[in-house]
Amino acid sequence: MEISTEVDLAPYNTLGVNAVASYFCKVANLSELRQALDFASERNLPTKIIGGGSNILITGDFPGVIIQLALMNIEWMNDEGLVRVGAGENWHAFVEHCLGKGAHGLENLALIPGTVGAAPIQNIGAYGVECEQFIVSVQVYDQQQRSIVEFSHEMCEFSYRDSIFKYEGSKHFVVLAVTFQLYPDWPANFSYGALANELKDKDTIGHRDVFDAVCKIRRSKLPDPAVIGNAGSFFKNPLISLDKYKALKAEYSDIPGYEVTEPGLIKTSAAWLLDQAGWKGKRRGGAGVHTEHALVIVNADNASGDEILLLAQEMASSILSKFGIALETEVQIV
Ligand code: EPU
Repeated sequence: MEISTEVDLAPYNTLGVNAVASYFCKVANLSELRQALDFASERNLPTKIIGGGSNILITGDFPGVIIQLALMNIEWMNDEGLVRVGAGENWHAFVEHCLGKGAHGLENLALIPGTVGAAPIQNIGAYGVECEQFIVSVQVYDQQQRSIVEFSHEMCEFSYRDSIFKYEGSKHFVVLAVTFQLYPDWPANFSYGALANELKDKDTIGHRDVFDAVCKIRRSKLPDPAVIGNAGSFFKNPLISLDKYKALKAEYSDIPGYEVTEPGLIKTSAAWLLDQAGWKGKRRGGAGVHTEHALVIVNADNASGDEILLLAQEMASSILSKFGIALETEVQIV
């Protein structure tokens, strides 16, 4: 395994931010991961594990070791849709592979950028589905105990764009593989508004139709990171109290509200709030807001990480003063 020095990180983050890592390596198995971690601890260097780099904002040079996980393997454990997948596998390619196998459930999550290992960390979700619905367990490497641990679904503490792996006290866990239970007879799920609308003229709707429709909607609204740097939704959709929602609804009759399981709370749309505040298409230096979706920050012209962060902070503070709602970033700031 090669550990490179002074590596430009632009190809390793989909926002395309230029920054330099003192050390960088790609690990293909557990033994290489251990070597990379030992290299860092012997030199007292910080480490950062990355996958596809599609949910991170790098704000400056990284004075440690960036470790890109490239643990590849898709192992079908039986014919009933139980599958264990290496953390480095590309998420979308895996979703498409499952569709080809007739193992259903993940088709609503087509085209989400990133790797399988990153999926449980922020519990990726789209078009009415979250990946946790299909996760049986997550295999991690515990850097403190130097051992492998299998986290059951319950131990992962999944919630909206969240899991135990995001907590400060869990930073010593590295996701190695994820086990999913998919289903041959899972009903095609197209209840999400935009998806139902896209499929409304079809008589019969199968899983392939859902997959194709999700790809079409995403391509029309979300910028392709290969064309213009971005990290998908920059902020989470905020949970607010029902009273607060009612007060806003009285003033803004079309404010979206989605039911959640938490009593007394409702989820509203960060994109809608930002759109109301006039953010769509705005520019701040090289950083900008996507013209088609106010929740997506783009690297319009060679933006630095700090420039993007400043724009994000300005967006969040405008929502706080206009609506009294604090937005939280979905993207991880490195
Ligand atoms: N909207 C606006 N202005 C905009 C964009 C959207 O008013 O510029 C409104 C829409 O009309 C709609 C609402 O906002 O009423 C929600 O928009 P959308 O359906 O695009 O979904 P979202 O809540 O903005 C979430 C996820 C996306 C996921 C979509 C589809 C979060 C933070 N984002 O976005 O996930 O693809 O739903 O399910 O939950 C991601 O996490 O990176 C991501 C792209």
